[in-house]
This record gives sequence, structure tokens and C-alpha cells, in this order.
Amino acid sequence: EKGGYPHFMLKEIFEQPECINDCMRGRVNKETHEVILSAVNDHKEHLLNARRFIIVACGTSWHAGLIGKQLIEAFCRIPVEVEYASEFRYRNPVISNEDVVIAISQSGETADTLAAIELARSKGAFVYGICNAVGSSIPRNTDSGSYIHVGPEIGVASTKAFTGQVTVLTMLALTLGHEKKLINDTTYTHIIDELVQIPDKIKEVLKQNESIARLSRIFTYAHNFLYLGRGYSYPVALEGALKLKEISYIHAEGYPAAEMKHGPIALVDTEMPVVVIATQNAMYEKIISNIQEIKARQGRIIALVNPHDTVISKLADECIEIPETLECLEPLITTVPLQLLAYHIAVCKGKDVDQPRNLAKSVTVE
Ligand code: M6R
Repeated sequence: EKGGYPHFMLKEIFEQPECINDCMRGRVNKETHEVILSAVNDHKEHLLNARRFIIVACGTSWHAGLIGKQLIEAFCRIPVEVEYASEFRYRNPVISNEDVVIAISQSGETADTLAAIELARSKGAFVYGICNAVGSSIPRNTDSGSYIHVGPEIGVASTKAFTGQVTVLTMLALTLGHEKKLINDTTYTHIIDELVQIPDKIKEVLKQNESIARLSRIFTYAHNFLYLGRGYSYPVALEGALKLKEISYIHAEGYPAAEMKHGPIALVDTEMPVVVIATQNAMYEKIISNIQEIKARQGRIIALVNPHDTVISKLADECIEIPETLECLEPLITTVPLQLLAYHIAVCKGKDVDQPRNLAKSVTVE
């Protein structure tokens, strides 16, 4: 049932190109450049007239929500807040029938997310679910929603569900932004052309599995890791750190790269691997100086770079190549090598990758 892979987690990482295609199937039309989410069509009024979106989720799904915020704000110009469901439910949030709450959950059974939904609905908000497990509690308790259709996720560490969630959030933001006439046709077409190429670009990253395994062996000794990114890559840094923590039990922190000088850079020394998402986007020059600051303190850098990057490849100790895409779509690709890095480090340490200690696949109690 693991399809020849030693662990479900590795199988699920490798399934991602297919999963993203499944998620887009019948929704993204490559020829006509249309994106149709039936739930959006059925509830256009609610979604287009939202005063604000509030995304509630936990763990990896919360990280997907942070990317969703950037996508929706960029394409739809509607303010978005992203909340931990566990905090939201207990703090008497300001919420009304002009708000749309998006609940993101792989399992559809997370207790805090369910409670956040109940609270939001009791205050009159329209609730839209983004779930994987078909027929689970969250889809049954929301007004509408979209499944991510990535198939059962068995590994406790969420992988393909994350990229599926980000794919749905991308389609949602694109279709609403286009409806609102905030994205012109040329940009819309261009983003869709790039989106449909994402599965093949993930395949390019998966081809580096062996070299990621090799570099993982170098860093297995580390007791701490930092993950840095900016913009769309900041939530990816958080997600990379969470993956490492939960399956290898190595302490890891994700930070927005520019925050380093406000404290965390004090941690950097020869023993501290720093993973930097350093693709050539609007933040590229800034990331280069962030890397220089770390190198000046003898930090060891593992950089995610675009092919033919000659600047960062000289500064970094190790590089992983990321095919070029639009900045707003990069998380769908850059997350994958970080999943592999966490996986291989955990395997090197002899940890139970699919069933990490103290963790359950779905957190149905508080
Ligand atoms: O099923 P959900 O998406 O609601 O689960 C939320 C978190 O419990 C989950 O993402 C958790 O953080 C994973 N173990 C992360 O890999």
C-alpha cells in the first residue's frame, strides 16, 4: 500500500504532481483559461461582497492560510486575517455577517477548527471549507467549500494536503480577483499558464531527491535549524521548520528573513544550519544581504535557488534548484524540497517518520 516507498510520507511527497493535477481537474481549463470552482459559482454574492476574509486553521493548514492571505489580498484587494482556530474560538472575535470565514483542514475533524466554525456561524458569518477528507465533520458544518482532492493522507506530517490547499486557495483568489475585474485578462491568463505547469516543475525538484538525501546526512547532527523566507516564502519557511520539528525532533524556527537582525541572528554560529528560500523574485537582493549577514557569523547556508544562480550559489554551502515560476506560485514548488529535507534527516536519525512521537493524524480533542 506504500506503493514501493519505504514510508507513506515519501510516497505522499512524490504524489504531489499528480495530486495538484487532480485538484485542478475540471476546475482549471488550460485552453480557455477559465478557473471554475463550483462552490464559488454557487455563492458568488457572499464571496464577492465579503468585507473581509478570516482564515481559521491549525498547524500546516494554518501555514497554507498565510499563503492564502497573500494571494487573496493581492488578487482581490479584500483584507484577510489568518487565525489559529484555537485562539480565535476563545477570544470573542469581532465578526459579523459581512465576514467570510475560510476554514482549512486536511482531516476535516480538527476540534478547534470545528469550534471556530461554530462560533463564526453563530455570529452570522458565511463559512467556506477547504478540506481533504470527503464527508468529514467540517464539510458537513460549513455553508460551502471546495475539496482539495489529493487522496487519503496517511503520514502524520502533512505534505500533499498542504500543496493541495495552496492550489485551491490560488484558484479561489484568481477566480474572485478576475470576477472583481482586479486582475486583467493578460495577467490572469499568464498566471493560469504558469499554474498548470506547476506539477511538472515539482517533478524537477523530485529528481533531486538523492542529492537532498546526501545533504541531509551532512546536517543530521544539528540540534537547531533556522528557516528563512520573505513574502510568499515566509509561510514556506514556517512549514519547513514544522516538518523538521515534528518528524526529526530537531528544534527549528521559521522566520521572515529580515527579522533576523531583531534577535534571532544572535543564535547563528558554525553549528547552526540556516535554510534560505532565495529564488529570484522581487525580494532577491534583500535575501542576498540576509545571507551575507549569516555568512559573516559563520552560519551554514542551505539555499533554495533558481537554476543558473551564480551569486547565491557562491555564498551558500549547499543549493537546491527550484524551477522558475511566478512569485505567487513559488510556495507550491519550494515547499517540496523542504519536505524531503525533513524526511531524510528524520530517516538518518532513525525516527519513525510516519508515526512521530506524541502526534496524532487528526487532533479531535482540544
Ligand atoms: O487536519 P487538519 O488540517 O485540520 O490538521 C491541522 C494540524 O493538526 C496538522 O496540519 C498538523 O500540524 C500536521 N501534523 C502538520 O504536519
